[in-house]
Amino acid sequence: MITATFIKSIVDLTGLPQDDKPQIAMVGRSNVGKSSMINSLTRRNKLARVSSEPGRTQTLNIYNVDENFYLIDLPGYGYAKTSKSNRAYFAEIISDYLGTTKQLKLVLLIIDARIPFSDLDGEMIAWLQKYNVPFVIVMNKIDKVSAKDTAALHALLEERYPGVERIEHSSSTGKNRDKVWSTITGVIQSDEQS
Ligand code: GTP
Ligand code: MG
Repeated sequence: MITATFIKSIVDLTGLPQDDKPQIAMVGRSNVGKSSMINSLTRRNKLARVSSEPGRTQTLNIYNVDENFYLIDLPGYGYAKTSKSNRAYFAEIISDYLGTTKQLKLVLLIIDARIPFSDLDGEMIAWLQKYNVPFVIVMNKIDKVSAKDTAALHALLEERYPGVERIEHSSSTGKNRDKVWSTITGVIQSDEQS
């Protein structure tokens, strides 16, 4: 049993927790299911706000898990309908967060397995690699994808990012919830030992 609580939403990085607990961040395009995944992982249906409209999460939302680490829900990128200045602000806050947060121990890069892998995701991976942030790729909404298309997406990602861990996941069915948790707890435990 895990206990997760919402701490706060912030619009600039000075509001980040200042203690040395590890932070695990959810990153991905708008509408891929970041907020839903927080609810699924924590088994709290209404912890994070979910919407069928893209662009729902416009702040960094911080959750405390078991008083042990933080889950950070970042705004989605690539939301076409937002203003240019808004897009630039999101890009800046996300890159600042990734580049400057010492306590960031793992990023879950979430993609929607139904839609083609986008250049924006490629740029995000380039940032993660540049800043040396450990990450895994979560192939979300896998409940909506055929076995054939799933295999094709694995093949494409393996070719572009060989060796990067990929987890097929669905917040609707709970598929691989445990696998995501064990990846997170593995990172937390090795951090405690270092
Ligand atoms: P932004 O906050 O706009 O960046 O979106 P988000 O990434 O937080 O997405 P959100 O969790 O709000 O989910 C977007 C939509 O996808 C909602 O309608 C969810 O119900 C749906 N959704 C999320 N995860 C899954 C999944 O695993 N399977 C299916 N079928 N639908 C999902
Ligand atoms: Mg969201």
